[in-house]
Amino acid sequence: MRNLNTKDGLSLSELSLGCMNLPTDDKAEAEKIIEAALSAGITYFDTADLYQFGENEQMVGEILSKYRSQYNFTIGTKVGNQFDAAKQEKIAWNPGASYIKEAVKDSLHRLGIDQIDLYQLHGGTIEDDKDETIQAFEDLKQDGVIRSYGISSIRMNVIDYYRKHSSMATLMMQFNPIDNRPLEVMETLGDIRPLARGPVMKGLMSHKSSKVLEEKFESGILDYSKDELKESIDALARLNSDLTALSYAFLRKNNAVIVNGVSSLEQLNDNLKSYGKTEDLTEQEYSRILKAVKTLKYGEHRI
Ligand SMILES: NC(=O)c1ccc[n+]([C@@H]2O[C@H](COP(=O)([O-])OP(=O)(O)OC[C@H]3O[C@@H](n4cnc5c(N)ncnc54)[C@H](OP(=O)(O)O)[C@@H]3O)[C@@H](O)[C@H]2O)c1
Repeated sequence: MRNLNTKDGLSLSELSLGCMNLPTDDKAEAEKIIEAALSAGITYFDTADLYQFGENEQMVGEILSKYRSQYNFTIGTKVGNQFDAAKQEKIAWNPGASYIKEAVKDSLHRLGIDQIDLYQLHGGTIEDDKDETIQAFEDLKQDGVIRSYGISSIRMNVIDYYRKHSSMATLMMQFNPIDNRPLEVMETLGDIRPLARGPVMKGLMSHKSSKVLEEKFESGILDYSKDELKESIDALARLNSDLTALSYAFLRKNNAVIVNGVSSLEQLNDNLKSYGKTEDLTEQEYSRILKAVKTLKYGEHRI
């Protein structure tokens, strides 16, 4: 497994585990997935306080703690969505410093750790008091409560602000050959490490592509109708019949950490197999991928 560094010295496995869709109602299966991920060399685990209103952090923390003496790994979580765990509902978007400094304690407690490796702002708008948020992250870093911070955002204007005014180490976005909107952002990132969520586009970029197209993309997505999606997927499959390996190679070309979510051990094993077949693309191979898909741009939140 390759590893990619961040400017704050985190080492993240190129293929990482997105924990959002782990089965919280079947902790034995979730543990099998996490254990298989660790033994395959996956060292980065992505969660968020909001996932299942704290339950995901709790479960991931509990499982990982059993393996701490055996493996080195890094945990990323997220903040900004204030929620009521008892009522299982989101209350408000809250990027305020006092909220973040309280919420981090809850995340640490649920994860059972005393320092968060990567703390990410879970969204954000241009109207937020961004300097206050940045200062809160800087304070937490200074105090050793977190090792580094990043944002998860698909808003160009927000990304641009944090890129210029903060020392964020990572930027998470949905990114794969079909949803290639982040491409224009890549050029501006410098030493900020991209974290690609949605690398298999909910299974569309997998060997279950046809089934997933019917079940999850009946009305198309982004600028694609369902028929256009099928056309692009067919064109990609002509380049590489392993669509997951193709997506991973595309993301590797963009120096991204691939944060793949799974809901079963079978999916993880399929993804690991594809990772084993992931190639370093030549410029020509890369441009063939780009020709097979639409070039998308972020439409809103640009200025
Ligand atoms: N705003 C944010 O910060 C944000 C938002 C979303 C996600 N995330 C993070 O990013 C991670 C990944 O994002 P994601 O879960 O949306 O995207 P993803 O990794 O592309 O999709 C995960 C889903 O795709 C399906 N899948 C995965 N591997 C498959 C395979 N080999 N064959 C068929 N289907 C497969 C599964 O769907 P089924 O479960 O339906 O089978 C799985 O739950 C999440 O786990 C989370 O940690 C962050």
